[in-house]
Amino acid sequence: MSKKIIIPKRIVTANNQREILINHAVEITDKRITAILDLKEFDLSKYDGDIQEFPALTLIPGFVQTHIHLCQTLFRGLADELELLDWLQQRIFPYENSHNQSSLKASARLGIHELLTSGTTTFMDMGTINYEEVIFEELLNSGIKAIAGKTMMDINDLYPEFVETTKDSLKRSYELAEEFHNSDNGRIKYGFAPRFVLSCTEELLKETKSMMQDFDGSIFHTHSSENKKEIEAVKRMHNKENIEYFESIDVLSDQTVLAHCIHVSDSEMALLKSSGTRVSHCPSSNLKLGSGIADIPRYMREGISVSLGADGAPCNNNLDVFTEMRLASLIQKPVYGPTVMKAEEVFRLATIEGAKALHLENEVGSVEIGKYADLVMLNLDIPTSNLLTEDEQVYSSIVYSVGKSSVKEVMVNGKWLVRDGESIDYDKDELYSTGKSELEKLIERAKVNS
Ligand code: GUN
Ligand code: FE
Repeated sequence: MSKKIIIPKRIVTANNQREILINHAVEITDKRITAILDLKEFDLSKYDGDIQEFPALTLIPGFVQTHIHLCQTLFRGLADELELLDWLQQRIFPYENSHNQSSLKASARLGIHELLTSGTTTFMDMGTINYEEVIFEELLNSGIKAIAGKTMMDINDLYPEFVETTKDSLKRSYELAEEFHNSDNGRIKYGFAPRFVLSCTEELLKETKSMMQDFDGSIFHTHSSENKKEIEAVKRMHNKENIEYFESIDVLSDQTVLAHCIHVSDSEMALLKSSGTRVSHCPSSNLKLGSGIADIPRYMREGISVSLGADGAPCNNNLDVFTEMRLASLIQKPVYGPTVMKAEEVFRLATIEGAKALHLENEVGSVEIGKYADLVMLNLDIPTSNLLTEDEQVYSSIVYSVGKSSVKEVMVNGKWLVRDGESIDYDKDELYSTGKSELEKLIERAKVNS
């Protein structure tokens, strides 16, 4: 049994009491936090395990993001200045359709490296139609935590080549869930990912929901109500608003996570609330695609679960959660005034609220005894940070002023994956050169396909 004690400058716990602890240490036994020690009372000289001191660093829980597309990391910068349906039709669907195993692997590796080195330790991924096993293999190798699943698309009027049959989509999703749900002792889970209403038959959506019964703890992960033209098309198809349609086919529940939820009526908001459906807020993506501003303060007031996601690299164009936290706060202030979406609240959306959205709140999302040791250490004592970083000022620093370059150490399941800002397993130069050459080949394939 491996035991260690970590002594940071301070611990931002994200627990229910919202404690920030000074002069405390975290004891880790194997994968979990086994004690939080008050160093005024605990005699370190009698401790026989490994003691690691970080007197300049602030310890926080690893960030949790609830909506990511690893398969799109390769396409960063290749789909700028487009709105959703054009973005999908002209760029994203043709590119995703041109992935082979090695380009998908390169894309997943770039994405996981970016997430880890910017402090995200758990995330939910939407996947792509083909070769999803490649993403799972990379997730397993990387040490990060994820709920992932192949995207499901059995209709596609925007780009008809990128589609699968209903039967194949369901069969492959089921097989992948059987193979990977709860793999590596639950570190990796399966999340069923019907992409959005415009790419899914009713049969696909309903059958997916019913398959989930065989996989306890899995999630129904989809996009909803993101763009005005999208919801008009949904209305033409089903004569209902997007979330009303989901309710009518019984796919809303507390196991459902909807990305975006920007164009939502009052009655749909009531449906989100009564069903316990979770909202994944993607502020960068919503701004960059010109989709709109989701009414997040209202969701939060209503008690609807809200968490954060960077979405994909070609609609952001970053995967780090610092950008999402900052924007999540700032975009609401012109609407509701400066006191809305306070730094601490937004920090909680990116940690414990993300964990709750994925039903992982007993495992991750805060620094508490019994939870996994998924920890991030930040250097907040830099000239570009707040000069006073006591108590609430810490949240201000994290949300408004510092960024991913403050992430120094990252641990998942008690194992260091990032040291002094650098990934242990991934080599940046290799990621870049392999990514670039895989992208060049993919673009050639995309030309032949079109
Ligand atoms: N809706 C359907 N697919 C996608 C996607 O890949 N990204 C975003 N932002 N919205 C979508
Ligand atoms: Fe998305």
